Amino acid sequence: MQDLTIPDLLLVGRGEALRTALKVVHNETNASPVIVEIGVLRDPSGWREPPENPVIPNHLQGAARSDGWSSLLWAWYATEHPKAKVQLVDIQQGCIDVCSTILHEQLAVFELPENITLVCNDAVAFFLELPPCKIDLLYLDGGDEPTQMMDHFTSASTLNFLQPGSRLLLDDIPADPNRGKGTILVPHLRESKDWILELDDTDHCQMLWKRVDIDA
Ligand SMILES: C[S@@+](CC[C@H](N)C(=O)[O-])C[C@H]1O[C@@H](n2cnc3c(N)ncnc32)[C@H](O)[C@@H]1O
Repeated sequence: MQDLTIPDLLLVGRGEALRTALKVVHNETNASPVIVEIGVLRDPSGWREPPENPVIPNHLQGAARSDGWSSLLWAWYATEHPKAKVQLVDIQQGCIDVCSTILHEQLAVFELPENITLVCNDAVAFFLELPPCKIDLLYLDGGDEPTQMMDHFTSASTLNFLQPGSRLLLDDIPADPNRGKGTILVPHLRESKDWILELDDTDHCQMLWKRVDIDA
């Protein structure tokens, strides 16, 4: 399996956890991962260059840097690897529309390939409707309520989409355990024998967890 080389433009968003997660599932699935993202690219401001607003730190200017524009990373991967399957889910049609526009522009395609699906739905409803499969990489970046991140995880887990080897990437997880979207889910994962923390990138507000096989 060849190492995954990610274009420079896709290296700016968030920290390394996004890219690490993608490289891991790329290698472990022979370039055919199922990737599900909850909460899509919703802000078109892109890679705004400093010093547009000198008060805002450089790395926070433009949504490609601040939000991460993660959807573009997964979608780029799917265009390069036809056996991959990427599902991008958001509860707001307006966000789905922004995401779709940016993906078409940035990937320079007239139509997105069939292995990329944009779904307007609540995450829990999405999981209830999803046919049985193993999700190799689940990225949870939905609403700000910690109960929501827990609910989305619980739905995916209970419905058996998260299996040994699955990766769970969480966004908005700062170093302070009392802040961010993961204040309920992260303690749960730490207590669980099923999950190990693979990468702690709380400097960039992300954590990557791996589901282990406790019977192995
Ligand atoms: C922080 S943004 C996602 C940013 C995106 N991942 C990026 O890198 O640019 C959060 C998104 O989650 C969506 N969202 C909130 N609650 C949701 C839910 N229950 N199900 C699905 N999406 C939800 C919001 O509409 C919003 O677009």
